[in-house]
Amino acid sequence: MTKAGPGFSTLAIHAGAQPDPTTGARATPIYQTTSFVFNDADHAAALFGLQQFGNIYTRIMNPTQAVLEERIAALEGGTAALAVASGHAAQLLVFHTIMRPGDNFVAARQLYGGSVNQFGQAFQSFDWQVRWADCADPESFAKEIDGRTKAIFIESLANPGGIFVDIAAVAEVARRHGLPLIVDNTMATPYLVRPLEHGADIVVHSLTKFIGGHGNSMGGILVDGGTFDWSRSGKYPLLSKPRPEYGGIVLHQAFGNFAFAVAARVLGLRDFGPAISPMNAFLIQTGVETLPLRMQRHCDNAHAVAKWLAAQEKVSWVRYAGLDGDPNHALQQRYSPKGAGAVFTFGLKDGYEAGKRFVEALEMFSHLANIGDTRSLVIHPASTTHRQLTLEQQVSAGAGPDVVRLSIGIEDVEDIIADLDQALAKV
Ligand SMILES: Cc1ncc(COP(=O)(O)O)c(C=O)c1O
Repeated sequence: MTKAGPGFSTLAIHAGAQPDPTTGARATPIYQTTSFVFNDADHAAALFGLQQFGNIYTRIMNPTQAVLEERIAALEGGTAALAVASGHAAQLLVFHTIMRPGDNFVAARQLYGGSVNQFGQAFQSFDWQVRWADCADPESFAKEIDGRTKAIFIESLANPGGIFVDIAAVAEVARRHGLPLIVDNTMATPYLVRPLEHGADIVVHSLTKFIGGHGNSMGGILVDGGTFDWSRSGKYPLLSKPRPEYGGIVLHQAFGNFAFAVAARVLGLRDFGPAISPMNAFLIQTGVETLPLRMQRHCDNAHAVAKWLAAQEKVSWVRYAGLDGDPNHALQQRYSPKGAGAVFTFGLKDGYEAGKRFVEALEMFSHLANIGDTRSLVIHPASTTHRQLTLEQQVSAGAGPDVVRLSIGIEDVEDIIADLDQALAKV
């Protein structure tokens, strides 16, 4: 039997890592240093001029961070990656590499509430406009595109509604208009979905969630698919025009299929500065080693919980793509046959007040604003993560007033269900 290369679980443990050349340390050390000594003046000049890759200063690059980057790039099937301080920082650097003042991009309106804010409000300071489309209707993206549109953005599995998106169909719209497709793959992780295989060009993650997996470190990453031609249209000058600060080199020419990751590092991270700490890169990397095991358990537990909830008298609806009757079930089977993820929503018949009482009655579940921890988590989005949105935006993002969101952990499923059961009894 021939095999193309190492499997996913092998890459999750080994990709990017070697025993430390100086000490032999097997686990990647935490290189807790701000800066790195140059061999000589020529070496320093070559590093600063991008003629040679190497460590200068931890704001730009660090060996612990580099292992994490190589590992996630391998798991996503990309050419290179750039790890940063948070998922939001990764999104900022992606758009900084692509957009100029006055440009726009088209995003699915079914997004994490924080991304809706970042795109709709914070990005206005840079004069970057977002236009909203419906993730269930690929052609709705096409309708928003004009001469200043620079990219399309979707989540592979939309937070918090647990909706799988037809990535290939949206990629086809992007391709037709000569635009890159950026996919936030936070909720699915590459264990479930690999967007680059379906036509995406750039993948972003909040590493804070399932990839780190233990609720202990913030991080984000962008992965360069190496697929997009940044020079053809002349619309991406950071990549296709000479860079004066680097001796006039054209990044796309010099770095080819990993030019996007290089540009995000040497123009975005260098100047905005949201570097990931070596400690967080280490903790997240350790989390990645068990990603396949954890993700499967998250999915299996979530499926059992969703099925149980759907049979409860006080529950009005459950939206989990893994359930047979769910409108999103066919897309889940096509894009993510191993499971439907661990984050989903349901409604309580008695609405807003019942939702609040239920959340307070839970004992093992933690009531907090995160997903993708080993522990089971719960939140009422309308009063927390999606609070800053209008009622209309909340409803269209799947976070209306009656909605409760669960992120199912990897505890014993009987204990998860017992906690939900006792809380439901108190509603
Ligand atoms: C899908 C998704 N994308 C991006 C983010 C932002 O990530 P971070 O909180 O690491 O900045 C989040 C955070 O919840 C998220 O759920």
